[in-house]
Amino acid sequence: MKLLDGKAISKELREELAAEVKEMVGKGERPPHLAIVLVGNNPASETYVNAKVKACKNIGYETSLMHFPADISQELLLSAIDELNENEDIDGFIVQLPLPAHIEDRTVIERVLPGKDVDGFHPINVGRMSLGLDSFVSATPGGIVEMIKRYGIETEGKHCVVLGRSNIVGGPMSILMRRNTYPGNCTVTIAHSRTQNLAEVCRSADILVAAIGKPEFVTADMVKEGAVVIDVGINRIDDASRERGYRLVGDVAFDPVAEKSSYITPVPGGVGPMTIAYLLNNTMIAARKRIGQ
Ligand code: GUN
Repeated sequence: MKLLDGKAISKELREELAAEVKEMVGKGERPPHLAIVLVGNNPASETYVNAKVKACKNIGYETSLMHFPADISQELLLSAIDELNENEDIDGFIVQLPLPAHIEDRTVIERVLPGKDVDGFHPINVGRMSLGLDSFVSATPGGIVEMIKRYGIETEGKHCVVLGRSNIVGGPMSILMRRNTYPGNCTVTIAHSRTQNLAEVCRSADILVAAIGKPEFVTADMVKEGAVVIDVGINRIDDASRERGYRLVGDVAFDPVAEKSSYITPVPGGVGPMTIAYLLNNTMIAARKRIGQ
């Protein structure tokens, strides 16, 4: 078993981006600028957003955090998005999800200009990605594909089972793995909570991507000997032995599954760091377009 070390690969990618920022600035261009919109005080969202801001600063990006109260009206939030769309000093921006219940995610996502949608959530970007055209690819699947590429894992003709069908992870992941390119050319199955014979379907996977949001859901009996296992889950489970009262586990029961896998991502330190690095990558793509590269 080999670990897919997302922390190390993310560092490699961030170093490449930092070098590109230096080069850009050396040529008299301003660095890439990512704006982040956060609504309310969801603790997990605050943690993610802080990590994104820090990652930007570490590689020399400019970053702006716009933090609105949970009771902001949808109208006001949409006008803030309009301003970001028009602001030429900002290359790309994201609106951290989930949003409070009185705000419609879909309306907000569709208000972001596709050219600034570095989350890759806008239907234009999702559609273009599905067609194999130039687009922003959402950061978690984009980061996973980057990791597969940098480890040189074979994908052609393999059976990839994606467990979970969310718009952010499972959906785009399945599209990327069936593309006619590398990484891709897989035979893809999307499995979910209503799938019959789920264990059997998972057992037929050469590459298993677990994005179902259930702690340690994938057990060793669901995994083929030699499979590549990618764990997207970040679940908090109570653990009185830890000072903070919980620990993080993935959607995969790591130890027993690791024994059967050829490659496996740890949690934490696997997919998570790649997600942030890939958001930085998307922001660089937006900045390159600004300077005509
Ligand atoms: N919430 C959980 N993951 C994400 C993400 O990748 N982008 C945004 N905007 N919100 C999220």
